[in-house]
Amino acid sequence: MTIRVASIPSPRYLGAVLALAAGALAACGSREPATAADDPVARGKYLVTAALCNDCHTPMKLGPNGPERDEAHLLAGHPQGVVVPPPPAAQGPWNVSTTDTMTAWSGPWGVSFTANLTPDPETGLGTWDAQTFIDTIRNARHMGKGRPLLPPMPAELIATLTDDDLRAMFAYLRSIPPVRNRVPDPIAPSIAAATP
Ligand code: HEC
Repeated sequence: MTIRVASIPSPRYLGAVLALAAGALAACGSREPATAADDPVARGKYLVTAALCNDCHTPMKLGPNGPERDEAHLLAGHPQGVVVPPPPAAQGPWNVSTTDTMTAWSGPWGVSFTANLTPDPETGLGTWDAQTFIDTIRNARHMGKGRPLLPPMPAELIATLTDDDLRAMFAYLRSIPPVRNRVPDPIAPSIAAATP
């Protein structure tokens, strides 16, 4: 008997996600990464790449060959010019959705927008120091002591890294080009459903 495998339309971003996973694996399999003591920026870049920060914090755009990461907005978060309509209503187990850019996320928490991690002083992390970054990740709160961070930011997983590794990540984030991009505030669930 011949079993014919129907061609299943792959989710639009599967290719991108697989490419990223391959990149992360390649990074893990490459030569021994720099230690935080040797070269914090190289170590931080390795960690940011392997820990998939770009997945959510670097917007996707449509390129000539399909969706690709917008390198001009490397780690700059949800693009301020992309105004999102209300999210689709949750239906049964389909509870979480994201946009083409993969930077706006809706779920039971409302709508969250990924943060600008570049060193821009007004719209990014330009005024932060390494301790602010460490406290933000460890306490899962804005600047370490503000409002709790919303999903899908995986702060509790990132918090499993050592202080040295988090410092290296921050050193790398300081080294990338600042991008002026004011990310919108999150929207509470009731408002998110009603806002046109
Ligand atoms: C699955 C998506 C996702 C991944 C992966 C992710 N983040 Fe986030 N991140 C978010 C979202 C969404 C927010 C905004 C949450 C909010 O507004 O409460 C955020 C917020 C943050 C903030 C808080 C900024 C502020 O101003 O308070 C920092 C810092 C951060 N992310 C760093 C990182 C780093 C570093 C990585 C990789 C190790 C990473 N994130 C991976 C989704 C993600």
